[in-house]
Amino acid sequence: MCSQLIKKVNIKTLRNLKNSGEKFSVLTAYDYSTAKYLDEAGIDVILIGDSLAMVALGYETTHSVGVEEMKIFTRAVAKGVKRSLVITDMPFLSYHTDIPSAVKNCGEMIKLGANGVKIEGWSDYILQVVKRLVETGIPVMGHLGFTPQFLNTLGGYKIQGKTLEAADEILKQAKQLEDAGAFSVVLEMVPQESAKYITENLTIPTISCGAGKYCDAQVLVSDDVFGKYSDFTPKFARKYGDMKALIVDCAKRFDEDVKSGRFPAENEVF
Ligand code: KIV
Repeated sequence: MCSQLIKKVNIKTLRNLKNSGEKFSVLTAYDYSTAKYLDEAGIDVILIGDSLAMVALGYETTHSVGVEEMKIFTRAVAKGVKRSLVITDMPFLSYHTDIPSAVKNCGEMIKLGANGVKIEGWSDYILQVVKRLVETGIPVMGHLGFTPQFLNTLGGYKIQGKTLEAADEILKQAKQLEDAGAFSVVLEMVPQESAKYITENLTIPTISCGAGKYCDAQVLVSDDVFGKYSDFTPKFARKYGDMKALIVDCAKRFDEDVKSGRFPAENEVF
């Protein structure tokens, strides 16, 4: 489609979708080609997730990835996208120390082509960061429930919001993020009924990451969806393909062709 005719997704589009009861899709991407294909496939929001720490860089947790690395992936993804909203996940320590450095680090992602940022957690400080970012013109996606950057204080990969009190606490936090100007909030590893209750009591869209079907949107890590990342797959991730098998098969056939002399053929040489 001609690029002038493509209507870019923006934060108002997502709010309108929630209001009309229509769901939207979110997938992660870390490189130019994947971002281009997700955009072509009609994925509404592309997240340069800090999950790339494990999936693309082989680190153990998201803590190890830094701003400079996220900048490289943000630039690559933004170049591949025409329609989808592009959001950069801000890495650990990039917005935690003080508001000026939070604005600077998040602003760098916008300069490289992101349309907004995602930040994890809730506290008085985080609410101030959200306000300041929005005042600066940077749309913010919140992230509550299980927040991987808090893995060590949460004591492991644990479901959050299991009781009514705990769901109420997440709702309180989400409402304050909404009041501070966040345009959406990811709910990660929250029981479906708790996520439903939170979703029904917010005006901004909720994005489920293992939080069930009642959220306004669903997000997954694309390498899980493609069957490319095999170290660990969460229960809530649906695998739509077996890219690992495809890659291994293609690589094996190439290896055999090289070693047997079948590659290159006459039409593959100058
Ligand atoms: O880093 C990530 O990929 C994420 C999403 C899965 C929500 O935070």
